[in-house]
Amino acid sequence: ARAQIGVTGLAVMGRNLARNFARHGYTVAVHNRSYGKTQSLIEEAGDEGDFVPSESMADFVASLERPRKVVIMVKAGAATDAVIDELLPLLEDGDIVVDAGNAHFPDTIRREEALRERGLHFVGTGVSGGEEGALLGPSIMPGGTRESYESLGPILEAISAKVDGTPCCTYVGPGGAGHFVKMVHNGIEYADMQLIAEAYDLLKRGLGATAAEIGQIFAEWNTGDLESFLIEITADVLQHVDAETGSAFVDIVLDQAEQKGTGRWTVQNGLDLGVPITGIAEATFARALSGGVPQREAARGTLPAHATDLQVTDRAAFIEDVRQALYASKVVAYSQGFDQIAAASAEHGWDVDRGAMARIWRGGCIIRARFLNRITEAYERDQQLPLLLADEYFTDAVGNGLPAWRRVVAQAAAAGIPAPAFSSSLAYYDGVRADRLPAALIQAQRDFFGAHTYRRTDREGTFHTLWSGDRTEQEA
Ligand code: 6PG
Repeated sequence: ARAQIGVTGLAVMGRNLARNFARHGYTVAVHNRSYGKTQSLIEEAGDEGDFVPSESMADFVASLERPRKVVIMVKAGAATDAVIDELLPLLEDGDIVVDAGNAHFPDTIRREEALRERGLHFVGTGVSGGEEGALLGPSIMPGGTRESYESLGPILEAISAKVDGTPCCTYVGPGGAGHFVKMVHNGIEYADMQLIAEAYDLLKRGLGATAAEIGQIFAEWNTGDLESFLIEITADVLQHVDAETGSAFVDIVLDQAEQKGTGRWTVQNGLDLGVPITGIAEATFARALSGGVPQREAARGTLPAHATDLQVTDRAAFIEDVRQALYASKVVAYSQGFDQIAAASAEHGWDVDRGAMARIWRGGCIIRARFLNRITEAYERDQQLPLLLADEYFTDAVGNGLPAWRRVVAQAAAAGIPAPAFSSSLAYYDGVRADRLPAALIQAQRDFFGAHTYRRTDREGTFHTLWSGDRTEQEA
């Protein structure tokens, strides 16, 4: 046994992770269900480092130093359970099984418990950055026991992305914490993408600009506060021309956004925890709306708009307004996502350090962005910060953009341009900062029709009014 780490599942992500380990000087055991993929990895990348290929799972496990570290990189779901079942009889006390797929965190909680009973460590880890990240340095979000992180952590940190010399990998928390944080990362990714798409649409319709021209605007934005991977690739994508038609590439792509489910999980969990992650939810529903073909066909050309065209007189000012609206809405989406992490952490006792999560998202992952530094700093100022927006930096940053944000949302509504994430983020902002909300009326209605009771502003207790009787109030 001489391999320090093993990877089973050699589709593109697993293959690139294995190559990344090897390139960092680790001896890597590699295995795949069909041996052909293992062979092709060795043929094509064998000279990048020290690989130990095995055809059978038994040989693969036997080739690993103890405690064994086995990274599973297969399709999330039943395939993961199948590989675990195959591994179990071959492993011994203290071995570490790492699931690096996009598993749903309740599955990770279940698997971690089951393996713990067998004396094994199960590390559900988020890995973000796509194929390129896996090879050149992803952002890594490992959960599981602290003990397993002691031996596994340094290896994961070595292959992770680095920002200012700091690895984009840290211990997240026990059980399902790693996969949970990755799930929220993906939810935020959905929100970020939707916000960018709305900004693009407004610029397109407001300026009558071509995709390439808008691409230039995004390239410009990428030199400021908005600097991020997603803004950068947006600039690139918008300037790309379809080879076949000579049209802007974005104009020939069917406008129906798909998803593999991590955004949906995030929204479902937001509902379970009662955390208003409206930015992520709107983004997820916007994808669903785009894919709702029968509804769109029934509505297209049928539903009246009664809208007035967007009149842009000062182009530079309009572009700046959209930029500020995008930034403010983005802060809201992140603020909500971090609330969700805090709520889950409290519910499961994970003790997730939100500032550290922002830090490991600065590089390698899809939502990597300059402004994540600001989030880390905010949580360093106050570990218990109840609302990211309430941090002094973000209060100012969003506050300064408010007039622009309101103008953009109002203009979009008047012009009949859907901007669900921009507008719901603004509504959230105004809701959370409100002195008093009409929720009071909802409580009164609930008490009226269902005797659901209410609390009063002026004294403690729970009350019910006899609505269909003499309307006296009773203490419930
Ligand atoms: C990443 C990505 C990655 C992937 C998701 C989202 O962090 O590297 O988030 O996990 O792109 O699967 O894809 P969908 O848009 O298909 O849900």
